[in-house]
Amino acid sequence: MTQPVMERTNASSAPDRDAEEAVLAVDRLETRFSTPEGEVRAVNGVSFDIRQGETIGVVGESGSGKSQIFMSIMGLLATNGRATGSVKYRGQEILGLAPAKLNRIRGSKMSMIFQDPMTSLNPYLKIAKQMTEVLVQHQGMSEKQALAKSVEMLDLVRIPEAKRRIRMYPHEFSGGMRQRVMIAMALLCQPDLLIADEPTTALDVTVQAQILDLMRDLKREFSTSIIMITHDLGVIAGLSDRVMVMYAGKIVETGAVEDIFYRPQHPYTEGLLKSMPRLTDEIGRELPTIQGQPPNLQHLPSGCNFRPRCPYAFDRCVNEEPPLAPFAPGRAKACHLESL
Ligand SMILES: Nc1ncnc2c1ncn2[C@@H]1O[C@H](COP(=O)(O)OP(=O)(O)OP(=O)(O)O)[C@@H](O)[C@H]1O
Ligand SMILES: [Mg+2]
Repeated sequence: MTQPVMERTNASSAPDRDAEEAVLAVDRLETRFSTPEGEVRAVNGVSFDIRQGETIGVVGESGSGKSQIFMSIMGLLATNGRATGSVKYRGQEILGLAPAKLNRIRGSKMSMIFQDPMTSLNPYLKIAKQMTEVLVQHQGMSEKQALAKSVEMLDLVRIPEAKRRIRMYPHEFSGGMRQRVMIAMALLCQPDLLIADEPTTALDVTVQAQILDLMRDLKREFSTSIIMITHDLGVIAGLSDRVMVMYAGKIVETGAVEDIFYRPQHPYTEGLLKSMPRLTDEIGRELPTIQGQPPNLQHLPSGCNFRPRCPYAFDRCVNEEPPLAPFAPGRAKACHLESL
């Protein structure tokens, strides 16, 4: 299972990598929310790209800006939010695109699935109606063709008796099955890019493992690019090629999955890994946690945003904000320390 992941990682850090066209290229994305208490700086200068067939894991504590990066990209920000910077889908600028134009890309080229499927499924419509509508609208299929394709997708995500179940309402499915329906819907138009925001957090571990298996198959069969957002490092370990670690709306470390797991170079990444339970843990061992609280996004600390919680902080960290800088092939970190 780890072999294909290794192969991809090597391929994506090969010298010709830059020559490949990115499916999505994000440059200096900033997202701000205006609130009565002041401006919330949710995303602060995030740049990255993702290539065909690549899987990127996005990790960080609650409130670190993971979801808002992708809500900005998909044009789904709350009305008090505003995103600036650049987001290119296969070379075309999509940030700030009018909803009608964005809709041609959203759902068909880029799809997003959320933690709670009930937020995206209409409880009053049968699954069949919700699925076929997308195909009729986006791909001009007839109802009959759309129904056949929808059943095929439910089969693909391993919903038993798909032909019968497609006639059911969302509440007639279990949580895990609803999440599968969401994945099937997200894949209907065979998107290039699937953004999965904590798709397994609400599910029990067995179902979680099945959904992750399914995502792995999709990656293999369709070479879909996948962005997997989670605060559970275990979830991305077996699925991702690269990892982006987020803190206070910024990427603080990025690299190949095995580097991030075995050779973290940012104190925050190290803290996240140390607080992860392991199979070899003694029963009753207390897990170390990262001291302190995530920063207030209305009043970010001076210098390095992680400094107040960092066990290694020194003078320079107080005044000077470390930029995200490359330090080895395929790796970058935002930290003044030479190495950990
Ligand atoms: N409409 C809004 N108005 C004001 N602040 C907002 C709004 N939406 C999100 N935020 C803030 O933006 C910050 C980033 O939120 P985001 O949802 O991206 O976090 P996250 O990393 O996805 O967290 P979680 O793991 O809990 O999902 C948070 O501090 C959140 O409170
Ligand atoms: Mg989130």
